Amino acid sequence: MAHIVVNTKKSKGTINKNIYGQFAEHLGRCIYEGVFVKEEDGIPNVNGMRCDVVNALKNIKVPVIRWPGGCFADTYHWMDGIGAKENRKKIVNTNWGGVTEDNSFGTHEFLELCKQVGCEPYICGNVGSGTVQEMSDWVEYCNMGGVSPMAELRRSNGHDEPWNVKYWGIGNENWGCGGNMTPEYYADECERYSTFVRNYDNDHPVYKIACGANAADYNWAKVVAEKAGPFVDALSLHYYTVPGPDWFNKGKATEFTVSEYYETVKKTLFLGEIMDNNISILKQASKPEHQLKLIVDEWGNWFAVEPGTNPGFLYQQNTIRDGIIAALNLNMFQDRCDTVVMANIAQMINVLQAMILTEGPKMVLTPTYHVYDLYKDHMDARQVESYAETEDLVDGDNVIPSLSVSSSEKDGKLTITVVNVDPAKEAEIDIILGGVKVSDASARTLAGDIHDHNTFDDPEKVTLKALDVTVTDGGAGIKVKLPAGSVTSITATEI
Ligand code: AHR
Repeated sequence: MAHIVVNTKKSKGTINKNIYGQFAEHLGRCIYEGVFVKEEDGIPNVNGMRCDVVNALKNIKVPVIRWPGGCFADTYHWMDGIGAKENRKKIVNTNWGGVTEDNSFGTHEFLELCKQVGCEPYICGNVGSGTVQEMSDWVEYCNMGGVSPMAELRRSNGHDEPWNVKYWGIGNENWGCGGNMTPEYYADECERYSTFVRNYDNDHPVYKIACGANAADYNWAKVVAEKAGPFVDALSLHYYTVPGPDWFNKGKATEFTVSEYYETVKKTLFLGEIMDNNISILKQASKPEHQLKLIVDEWGNWFAVEPGTNPGFLYQQNTIRDGIIAALNLNMFQDRCDTVVMANIAQMINVLQAMILTEGPKMVLTPTYHVYDLYKDHMDARQVESYAETEDLVDGDNVIPSLSVSSSEKDGKLTITVVNVDPAKEAEIDIILGGVKVSDASARTLAGDIHDHNTFDDPEKVTLKALDVTVTDGGAGIKVKLPAGSVTSITATEI
């Protein structure tokens, strides 16, 4: 028997729903096929957006989508993607497989997708190979309501009203694919670019996100935060979980040993330490009236591509292990919600740790998708302190905790999400509630063998199931038995 303590008297604040954000890049089959289809494909769509995919994204209440990249963003010239489709420039997607990018999905199409999903857009500008003028014009094109050259251009392309895009990224991975800059050089560029990312409507101010560090590169974070911090609202952070001996020998998505599973969990939990160090750096660089926030706008499992697929398309399957990794990350983001205000899993469809996989007209929801479904009650809820009495699971050098928990309350409902990391042993849990009592409780779980996954022939192998829970001690406790290798969401009515 293990204990979990939930203490509603202590909170780090509200869990920003944008922690449940997505990332969609012009990469492989994420945008084209995954989201955007042509009439001749015969897939039901509205203005080119797949209905099945849009409905699935609405169900998990996607709050924000980051676009157009990724590395693609620093090669993207937005004017190539507006106006009559037949006149749009065809370019080479130099980062991802050297395929032709016909620019049929551009700014209007992205903002149409966001409208259909009901989410905020987050646009990443081109600092690596673009110009300040180009980025400044893009913001004016999207956000200027009155008379101006870019507002007139937008109107001539059929959109009268401004979209008021709030979130703007000042480049992507400028320490790497975004220009191989030094932090000092990037910080200068960031100041210059942000100066010309203007507000066109005081009721809809823009929110500027500087390119932050790659994983544990604290020097990058420090230099950028100290120098460019006053000009932006937040710094990004990118961290991928990559099991395997090195970058060129990544582990596989569906075939892995228990040791590799432990390694995947251990590498994932390292992000907690990286975030804490970034948070300290941001706090030290912030002014009392201007507290810099942290946005983890790329994260997730990065495995070897599926055999027989284009190596530049980063297509990988998604198992219960991915669901567990997603849940561990989400628990870590939530428990740092005073500074972590957005996170965008890479990527939304058909790329890396995806929510959704498609094959022609077929679609499957992955275990990662189901975890987002399980966690949606946390959005905009008040985070409350919770603690799990864990034991260490040991496999050689990999020592990982057996449980992870995060909790919140909203509208008289308490939500506790727990991961039983142990792939072989169920966990009997006694939850002790402090500061609150509950009248009734229910639970849903994602469970199975850690290798289980959904395929186009067997799309329902992994789904959410109801789990028995009992309210104990006159409403001051909850008892639950968590299956081995599972993610569970417990919901209780507060009295
Ligand atoms: O998500 C795939 C790639 O990973 C992104 O384009 C880039 O920003 C990161 O290196």
